Amino acid sequence: MNAPTFRAAIAGTGSYLPSRILTNDDLSKMVDTSDEWIYPRTGIRSRHLAAEGENTSDMAAEAARRAMAAAGVAPEEVELLIVATITPDSPLPATACHVQTKAGLANATCFDVTAACSGFLYALDVARQFVMAGTVRTALVVGAEKMSAITDWTDRTTCILFGDGAGAAVVRRADEGSPNGILSCATGTDGSLAPLLFVEAGGSALPTSAETLAARKGYVRMDGHTIFKHAVRNMASVALKAVSDAGLSPADIDWIVPHQANIRIIQAVAKALDAPMEKVVTNIETTGNTTAASIPVALDAAVRDGRVKPGQNVLFAAFGAGLTWAASVVRFGR
Ligand code: ACO
Repeated sequence: MNAPTFRAAIAGTGSYLPSRILTNDDLSKMVDTSDEWIYPRTGIRSRHLAAEGENTSDMAAEAARRAMAAAGVAPEEVELLIVATITPDSPLPATACHVQTKAGLANATCFDVTAACSGFLYALDVARQFVMAGTVRTALVVGAEKMSAITDWTDRTTCILFGDGAGAAVVRRADEGSPNGILSCATGTDGSLAPLLFVEAGGSALPTSAETLAARKGYVRMDGHTIFKHAVRNMASVALKAVSDAGLSPADIDWIVPHQANIRIIQAVAKALDAPMEKVVTNIETTGNTTAASIPVALDAAVRDGRVKPGQNVLFAAFGAGLTWAASVVRFGR
């Protein structure tokens, strides 16, 4: 006998951005750059940075609390917590374990997923499968990053891009008879492109040492130009796959919530989908690239200001280090 298959839905969203703000003008006092260079090339004017002592798990727990409140779910109801992050509080244990304690998720199984900027969508797919299989009824998916901790603030080619923050979604078995829910998830990886975007030291291959610190090997390095081209190609193709897997065409999509890496990448993906920018949710101007937090933070803003409504078709699309890429179509609401 086949196991029962249930539909998983997004029942509520939440997000948290730290209060400290770093503008392009602030950056121009730290490295040789300017708002005139940064804004036209990236769409970024400012980003939020975590306070001293504010960790990835703190931001994740706050976003999780807000998502649970929006969904009307009590912490004890959550059976699964997945935190997507590349900036864990520490290598061991999983940041999700700290979030469990901070958000009071006593009945949740907790683990992290690492897929860089695609991390939230990878985690959404994992949670969806648990719910569809009937293994859990209520899950929490969080994307949270303290990118400021792995940003080289002396490297103008990368430090202009990143910001900190967290976003969360409660993923629940859809209400009986509801047409809403996660309609598709598509994912992909090409590990041969790992050298395009990486942190060299701090893992088991090259543990942190006086030498790695002196050589600044614990920070993000990337070939921005080449990443840009892969980003546009992979995001557009995985988005089209997710739309077709959902049994829809691009014209059926009400909102696109893309990973916020660069406004020019977002515009190119919208063009490939033949979608006007009016249908695209962007917040990159004030957040920068918050990696795994980027999609749930943008989604939460659009839900709270009334743009994204129940019953609408929302397309998520992301790419990131790995390289990884992912997309999902959700008929929003429970
Ligand atoms: N200020 C002023 N000048 C700069 C800066 C800066 N902040 N950064 C680079 N430059 C200079 C370079 O030195 C170069 O000068 P040169 O021509 O004299 O050598 C010139 O500007 C052009 O540099 P490029 O790197 O070619 O600039 P480009 O137009 O490609 O823009 C950017 C760079 C914005 C990083 C772009 O490539 C990009 O957004 N790429 C995608 C990055 C991305 O999305 N990464 C994903 C990270 S997600 C994750 O998984 C963590």
